[in-house]
Amino acid sequence: MKTHNSEKYRPIFHFSPKKNWMNDPNGLVYFKGEYHLFFQHNPNDSIWGPMHWGHAVSKDMIEWEELDIALYPDEHGTIFSGSVVIDWNNTSGFFPKEPGMVAIFTQNLHDADHTTPIQTQSLAFSHDRGRTWTKYEKNPVLKHPTKVDFRDPKVFWHYESEKWIMVLATGQTVSIYSSPNLIDWRFESEFGEDIGCHDGVWECPDLFELPVENSEEKKWVMFVSIGDNRQFDSGSRTQYFIGSFDGSNFKVDENNNEVLWLDFGKDNYAGVTFSDIPKEDGRRIYIGWMSNWRYANEVPTVGWRGQMTLPRVLTLRKIGDKLRVIQKPVKELDNYFTKQIVIHDEIISSGIQKKIDINQSSVEIVLNVNNLGAKQFGLVLHHTENQSTTITIDLLTNLLSLDRTNSGEVSFSENFLNNQVMKIHDTTKLNLRIIVDSSSVEIFVNEGAHALTSLIYPDKACEKISIFSLGGDIQLSNSYISFPNSIRRNFGY
Ligand code: FRU
Repeated sequence: MKTHNSEKYRPIFHFSPKKNWMNDPNGLVYFKGEYHLFFQHNPNDSIWGPMHWGHAVSKDMIEWEELDIALYPDEHGTIFSGSVVIDWNNTSGFFPKEPGMVAIFTQNLHDADHTTPIQTQSLAFSHDRGRTWTKYEKNPVLKHPTKVDFRDPKVFWHYESEKWIMVLATGQTVSIYSSPNLIDWRFESEFGEDIGCHDGVWECPDLFELPVENSEEKKWVMFVSIGDNRQFDSGSRTQYFIGSFDGSNFKVDENNNEVLWLDFGKDNYAGVTFSDIPKEDGRRIYIGWMSNWRYANEVPTVGWRGQMTLPRVLTLRKIGDKLRVIQKPVKELDNYFTKQIVIHDEIISSGIQKKIDINQSSVEIVLNVNNLGAKQFGLVLHHTENQSTTITIDLLTNLLSLDRTNSGEVSFSENFLNNQVMKIHDTTKLNLRIIVDSSSVEIFVNEGAHALTSLIYPDKACEKISIFSLGGDIQLSNSYISFPNSIRRNFGY
């Protein structure tokens, strides 16, 4: 008899729900020493369905504890994506005694009288650190007479104009609203009609300020996720815009028609950033849903489905003469890995494969590569004897590609087989950081300048790796491989 092991593919360092379906991260917020992760959740099945908000908390964003469901569907509909803020000054009137949490989320009503669902924005508040929630009695607080796609409110306090700002996905645009109290919303502007990629419906926007590395400069950045459209191979993905925001309008700095993608892997969607990270910390931290609508409902896990990316710190960096978003896993991750193999200085000659035994359920690989005239080099992650994922860097075209055709279970979707490719700005000296978990690979190139996030479904995370060079040599310096350390705890599953 075939037995199904529900823990097969269960990630160690990435959040996944104990049971059943999960998609977008929602309501990322820090409050009273805890990071909160709410998430799109169907608690009754491992496919998408009537959405609730699941809930997990963490002290370090790596080790999460799943709590009870935070928000259940009601007469206004199921609970779609949204955000949570701390109402420090009781602008809403919900917190006469001490500050608490307000959730602002979409309700999706699909009743017998309507062929298309009605999407409205609602509020709920919590006085006990998100453990229990009260829905606002006058929900919904924002509707639209004609717009069908009207969802995913991301709210923040805009210090300069002293009001709440909401960015909302409205079909092929992002609409910006403002409010003094989270209850009464006023339309400010609409962004995006004639700019960026419109291959699919716009979803899950976020708007925030980021510092430019090594300068005093700051810029506003808007993230917009783009839904799956069968006409395009890539499925769902996330673009971003860099510009300025005056409390009413978001304007991009330069409109040169170049679409800026956040991630060049297939599996990073609907990501948003944390609210209320303390000033002393000051980081802008992002988490994405590590899947793709093209095959999310078919991935081969049993009893649960969906996982999040690692939390990543975002900044801006000048690459060439252009600003780009930089992403790096949060430093808290370092506490979970110990350097085991160090390569101080070694030449990998053309045609030679350097094999390293790993035999771990997760591994972090950091390679600093000096190109001594090679045409191509790369790395094979041997999951088992006959399952492997190959990462190749073509030094003539500066393209990095990840091939998962032989990575294990791939038959659930044709689209899963397509190569994932990203252009690297500079390959003369390359820095690669690769984090492999039970069912994912995250690649960060040149200190976070380029990111590629990909699911894989091997029988085992990593047995061995081999590093190869072709058409010339490469030199590895200050490179290392880290294994999960002994303080790896029981994640409660
Ligand atoms: C994005 C999305 C959101 C919506 C939610 C529904 O993945 O489609 O636009 O609120 O998922 O689960």
